[in-house]
Amino acid sequence: MNPNELIDMASQSLKNAHAPYSNYRVGAALLCADGTVFAGCNVENASYGLTNCAERTALFAAVAAGQTNFTALAITASGEPAPFPCGACRQVLAEFCGPDFPVYIKQADEYAATTLGELLPHAFDLGNGQR
Ligand code: THU
Repeated sequence: MNPNELIDMASQSLKNAHAPYSNYRVGAALLCADGTVFAGCNVENASYGLTNCAERTALFAAVAAGQTNFTALAITASGEPAPFPCGACRQVLAEFCGPDFPVYIKQADEYAATTLGELLPHAFDLGNGQR
């Protein structure tokens, strides 16, 4: 699957976003090593801090379905700014994905191709071999 296909899947999930407070809708699509894709959207709450980002929605759905090996992530948003993942999502991704893990972030009609290592150098790791 190429980055544009994964971005299209993220854009589909964006349509399900629950974002009545920010009006900033985000979609994410997480490609698993077996070719399965899990999508997610942001889910906001009247108690703002309970909001779940699109990236974590996708990742948690994948893990709940038994997936732990991931190949790439695409993220799209309904407007500006481009949806570079928040710090919490970066650390949650680092639980399962290494520094070379590709992340594609839609920006206007193009996408930025980066890696988890670029987004989160020195990710926290207990170093106990649990990952
Ligand atoms: N949000 C995401 O879903 N992913 C990101 O990468 C950045 C922010 C959501 C959280 C909230 O619903 C809205 O965007 C505004 O912060």
